[in-house]
Amino acid sequence: MHKYCLLRKVMDAHPKFEIAPINGNFTNKSILSITQFAREDFEIVFAQTAKMRDVVLKQGSTNLLKGKVVACVFYEPSSRTFISFLTAAQRVGAGTIPLLGMAATSVAKGETLQDTIRTIGCNADAIVLRHPEKGAVSFVAGYSYVPILNAGDGNGEHPTQALMDMFTIKQKHGSLDNITGVLVGDILNGRTTHSLILGLSLYKNVTLYLLSPESLKLTREDYEKFTKRGIKLVEISSEKDMPKDAHFWYWTRVQKERFVSIEEYEKVKHSFILTPDTVSKYAGKDTILMHPLPRVGEIEEAVDTDPRAIYIETQMRNGVYTRMALLTLITGKTE
Ligand code: NCD
Repeated sequence: MHKYCLLRKVMDAHPKFEIAPINGNFTNKSILSITQFAREDFEIVFAQTAKMRDVVLKQGSTNLLKGKVVACVFYEPSSRTFISFLTAAQRVGAGTIPLLGMAATSVAKGETLQDTIRTIGCNADAIVLRHPEKGAVSFVAGYSYVPILNAGDGNGEHPTQALMDMFTIKQKHGSLDNITGVLVGDILNGRTTHSLILGLSLYKNVTLYLLSPESLKLTREDYEKFTKRGIKLVEISSEKDMPKDAHFWYWTRVQKERFVSIEEYEKVKHSFILTPDTVSKYAGKDTILMHPLPRVGEIEEAVDTDPRAIYIETQMRNGVYTRMALLTLITGKTE
């Protein structure tokens, strides 16, 4: 039996909770999906992110959230997102409850997600939640006493990753309008790519090339949903079809944990490997090379020293600043 099949049943039976649009006001809002944002909301996050970057570079931390507690509750493995939210919380002065894996909690006794989240909400002022079931984070936000930040829901979304990725692209290219990008790998299951497509779709004249094996293309439902928002998506199956001089490449890992058959995973896992040769053949001089990480063989280490490769440092540092920004925004403690 699927581990969370009971939750799936409850979710399917439950009327959908409304996901509140940001509308310029982040205070007490959960951050569940990029669809909550308008362009103006992105700009608020980017401005606050830049402010938090200055704070870290000048003085390391601030006390804006002194007395507050942020819980990081991860039902799925994580290195970057978990650590970066904990770091962000501490750098804005909050205390933290770190839960990486739920095996030692009452979840192991069969407690429901709803009860666990209400319990944590009696202790913390905000909850960062990662869960393997698509839609589970938004679902349980309807039960929560405190704002929830979606740190990844199955193969659904990863909005905070998209915010830091968009901040990074803007930082490198000056604008998110008139951008051409290439997303590579597991476009079907990659929640980072889903949120990034949704985010960039609010900008003018954005074209994204989606390079993946046939079996890892977007579902037709997602393809429709995304293109309806005005973004141009071009599905390609060979590196040769990548545009010259793209503003960014966004390589991704094939999401092994979403496969039913390990043989199927093995067949497609290394369909596209980023090598120095790929870069010299197809990248422009200003094409930035991105990846949400972890990488498991799809980017050769020899690429790391290319000045266009920003997946190791720039993207990850921006992740901390972005999460500091979100925590200060949702608690209304930006100054
Ligand atoms: C990503 C995720 O968890 O979706 N990792 C991350 O948060 N940076 C990407 C991945 O696991 O492939």
